[in-house]
Amino acid sequence: MVEATSPKQAAGYAAAKLVKTGMKLGLGTGTTVAFFLQALAERIKQEGLEVVGVATSVQTAELARTLGIPISDLDHYPALDLVIDGADEVDSKFRLIKGGGGALLREKIVAAASAQVAIIIGSGKRVARLGTTFLLPVEVIPFGHVTTRESVAKIGNCTPYIRTTEEGEPFVTDNGNYIFDCRFADGIANPEQLHADLSQIPGVAEVGLFLNLCDMVIEGQDDGQAVTLIR
Ligand code: 5RP
Repeated sequence: MVEATSPKQAAGYAAAKLVKTGMKLGLGTGTTVAFFLQALAERIKQEGLEVVGVATSVQTAELARTLGIPISDLDHYPALDLVIDGADEVDSKFRLIKGGGGALLREKIVAAASAQVAIIIGSGKRVARLGTTFLLPVEVIPFGHVTTRESVAKIGNCTPYIRTTEEGEPFVTDNGNYIFDCRFADGIANPEQLHADLSQIPGVAEVGLFLNLCDMVIEGQDDGQAVTLIR
């Protein structure tokens, strides 16, 4: 494997070293995960590593197949050994905001199905308070989404913006849903309470707060090294 030249690359390459033959892997979504998949594919070729991956998005499944990583699904492998995924924010309690790539719903299902969850990040993603550098993604079903938006705004005390494509159309997730990216004036004071409150709203499919799911954070550094933090 060539040396890492960026923090995201460093994190992705370091994560590939966690994989052992025989593992059932959850494969996250995003640019950092793409580096992990490249390094994993190289280990499969060089070392004959035998693994099977469950992808958290159509995009990841396509990339994995292109790289020669065997892919299956949760219905065939309901319990996974290890998930490698990215994040948009991480706080000191290993709580996360995820969903920048729009894959939060499948990412959470896959994370919950895994014995271990390792989060790989580049620089600038560790925060003192969630919701201060990134808007919170909330996936909602299209039916009644205007009503759902009002509830999310009121109950969450936030400003939800519908995510759109470059053409100005609503962004549609792999599940056929929409995403509201929610702004909090002073960040998220109580992530557990907010998660519970937003999850109760009819029409909300998933909230991009990942609480009690992350076991390990691998943070890439500017010098191409990676630092591992264990919960
Ligand atoms: C996708 C995600 C991603 O893991 C998150 O947005 C981080 O992406 P990147 O590695 O490209 O910075 O949650 O839904």
